[in-house]
Amino acid sequence: MRVLRNFSLKDHNSFGIDVRADKFISIENLDNLKSILRKSYASELFILGGGSNMLLTGDIHKMVLHIAIKGKKVVSETDNHVILEAAAGENWHEFVLWTLKQNYGGLENLSLIPGNVGTAPIQNIGAYGVELKDSFVSCIALNIQTLEEKEFSLEDCNFSYRNSIFKNQLKGQYIITSVKFRLTKNHHQLNINYGSIRAELAEKGINSPEIKDISNAVIAIRQSKLPDPKKIGNSGSFFKNPVIAKDQFEELKRKFPEIPSYEVSEEEIKVPAGWLIDTAGYKGYRLGDAGVHKNQALVLVNYGEATGAEILNLSKTIQKAIKDKFGIDLEAEVNII
Ligand code: EPU
Repeated sequence: MRVLRNFSLKDHNSFGIDVRADKFISIENLDNLKSILRKSYASELFILGGGSNMLLTGDIHKMVLHIAIKGKKVVSETDNHVILEAAAGENWHEFVLWTLKQNYGGLENLSLIPGNVGTAPIQNIGAYGVELKDSFVSCIALNIQTLEEKEFSLEDCNFSYRNSIFKNQLKGQYIITSVKFRLTKNHHQLNINYGSIRAELAEKGINSPEIKDISNAVIAIRQSKLPDPKKIGNSGSFFKNPVIAKDQFEELKRKFPEIPSYEVSEEEIKVPAGWLIDTAGYKGYRLGDAGVHKNQALVLVNYGEATGAEILNLSKTIQKAIKDKFGIDLEAEVNII
């Protein structure tokens, strides 16, 4: 294991922010991880996965552990299902493509989401009507203090919209080392209710789609709306879609009759933050190298040399504008560090 000093994290965060880590170690197996943890205090460590859901606003004066443990295998199978285990350092999209190649169904709607397998459960990644929790069986995580390995079941993880126990009660306490999924081998449950997926399939003339067709449709939609982090730095949706009380929504609807919405419960409505930001006039806005994407106002971008502080300032400007115009508090989805 090589300890790299004063190491630039520019290539390790999808926003492409050029900050430095005092020390950086790439961890390729569990034994290495345990031996580092044995020698260090939790407060000296910073755990890094794919770096796709964070905004770095300054240098990291800690030892960055880059979790790069690889591997995927079939754990068990029946005629209709397979249980797969993938190591935390596997790239999420490459893993999804691999499952599709074996004709395993369940993850196709989650194609092209940036990041790694091990960080996917932390925020219960989701897109186009599917969330990670829908095919999640369990994950194995290492307690940073005690080095004890624990398997967390679906119930243990407390998943909800872009949220889990790892973002709350257990924040900073565990490192996820592998994740198990239950996928279908046949009779795949297709999720094509999302309007843009149906439109994309119709445009291609596909009437009875297979899981690969859905993945291709999702890839096409994402590529048309969302900037490729390899070309323009970004972390996907910067904010969560806010959930507001029905009364507040009814009042807003009177002022903005075209406001889109999804019912969450009898009392609560979710409204798309992208629409709010777009309607407040910020879509395509740019200040220096920090900006709001031109095709999806929910995505903040780094056109090249923006600092984390500049992106953070832009996010605050937007939060204020949304509060002033709609009376809604936008909460960041991205972890601000
Ligand atoms: N909208 C606008 N203007 C915009 C963007 C969106 O008016 O600039 C409107 C759209 O027309 C649509 C609504 O807002 O009526 C929702 O937009 P979209 O379908 O693009 O989805 P979203 O709610 O903005 C969420 C996820 C995305 C995920 C998509 C598809 C969150 C925070 N974001 O976005 O996730 O890909 O749904 O399922 O829940 C991510 O987490 O990084 C991410 C990209």
